Amino acid sequence: MIIEMRPNLLRDERDRRLPRIAGPCVLVIFGVTGDLSTKKLMPAVYDLANRGLLPPGFALVGFARREWAHQDFAKVVHGAVQRHARTPFREEVWQQLSEGIRFVPGEIGNDEAFGRLAETIVDLDEARGTGGNHAFYLSIPPSLFPTVVDQLREHGLAEEHAGRWSRVVIEKPFGHDLASARQLNQIVSSVFPASSVFRIDHYLGKETVQNMMALRFANQMFDPVWNNKYVDQVQITMAEDIGIGGRAGYFDGIGIARDVIQNHLLQLLALTAMEEPTSFEASQLRGEKQKVLAAAQPPVRMDLHTARGTYAGGWAGGERVKGYLEEERIPRSSKTETYAAIRINIDNRRWAGVPFYLRTGKRLARRVTEVALGFKRAPHLPFAKTDTEELGYNAIVLRIQPDEGVTLRFGAKVPGTQMEIRDVNMDFAYGGSFTESSPEAYERLLLDVLLGDPPLFPQHEEVELSWDILDPILDYWADLPDQPEAYEPGSWGPKCADLMLARDGFSWRRP
Ligand code: BG6
Repeated sequence: MIIEMRPNLLRDERDRRLPRIAGPCVLVIFGVTGDLSTKKLMPAVYDLANRGLLPPGFALVGFARREWAHQDFAKVVHGAVQRHARTPFREEVWQQLSEGIRFVPGEIGNDEAFGRLAETIVDLDEARGTGGNHAFYLSIPPSLFPTVVDQLREHGLAEEHAGRWSRVVIEKPFGHDLASARQLNQIVSSVFPASSVFRIDHYLGKETVQNMMALRFANQMFDPVWNNKYVDQVQITMAEDIGIGGRAGYFDGIGIARDVIQNHLLQLLALTAMEEPTSFEASQLRGEKQKVLAAAQPPVRMDLHTARGTYAGGWAGGERVKGYLEEERIPRSSKTETYAAIRINIDNRRWAGVPFYLRTGKRLARRVTEVALGFKRAPHLPFAKTDTEELGYNAIVLRIQPDEGVTLRFGAKVPGTQMEIRDVNMDFAYGGSFTESSPEAYERLLLDVLLGDPPLFPQHEEVELSWDILDPILDYWADLPDQPEAYEPGSWGPKCADLMLARDGFSWRRP
């Protein structure tokens, strides 16, 4: 017997203040023993349950090459939740969740294992009332996608029957260049319609990234200056203080530009530069982002407007750290970059002439992600030159993480009998203004998948446009004879990146 989901007549669908609660469903995770699953997905499932956002008819199924029984997997989930969940552990929530936990052992290529998976899901639909709604999370390398989606089709798991859904969730990397992204998309879309494919870019699940839309489109005071008449340059920074850790196998040959510029940074650029969508419907929002990405151009002079580097060994954060080329399983001859900076021009009326500088790196001075709009100087300064010596440029800084918030920087008079003007900051900090802590990106995104709410998931068109921007840069780097320039761990990157900005008359912000 399948229990049908009934609409709650006391809820008005249009009321955004009511918590959005997922309907009955099964979430199947492939690659359940991986890092992402342990650190992010399982804890997010628990946090959603703890916040009352999952229905009683919810089940979690793990699929992996382990000889585990259901209870063994439940223990693994329990451990992951205890270590990584955001919200406090509550036994009654765990009890309820654990009743719906199942494990299916097997190889991805094994027919029998998929047969068992299908049976497990049908059993859950009957026993737990999960309503025939199924989400398949592929937390596995893209090389395994073809086999998994084929198996899902073979076993009737990709079909949508009336009133029920079947969705597939895929993690980046969405290919390693345009051609491979297209291939990957063909494979997935041969089985699932575009509306059932949810591509995760976890930056879009961050509260502060969504706040970019609130700041720009809920207020009147920013839009008039949000253009090339006032803005001089935009700097988008995603810095990390960690090295590649145990991810040599994934990282080498891929590099940081493919790892985060192709997705997170270009999404931040799109949200910063796009026009106001007519609504936040998926098609409207994606349409506006696509227009910006289509107008975004890679540098004409790659030698002048791209920079790459690799962290050297040395001291960082009070400990001795290895250089990238000394890390385990990294060939000494590797040309993979751990730092990348590029300049993008956006060829449209709002942004023509304003360089967007994107930079990202591992083992930098600190972990910080921000978008900074730097403004032109006032056209006339009615002060003596010495009065404004300490005055920099006005800036709006969107602090994505940590210290989430927004900073406005402008000049103010230093108290005293002389006229002396210096930069000051005015700050909005999430921590100071709101009592709730922000949900983890994966909580928001998983919930959206289960609700079938697509605006925060980039479609294939955005993925293609992003590769269009990055591919020529990667080709240029691949042809360079030298290895990327070494930079000190704990610094702000290689000298060539400073030179790149200095040539344009700018310098990098110290976040
Ligand atoms: C991932 C990258 O997408 O984002 C990692 O693959 C990176 O290399 C991570 O460390 C950073 O995420 P966050 O949310 O900590 O900024």
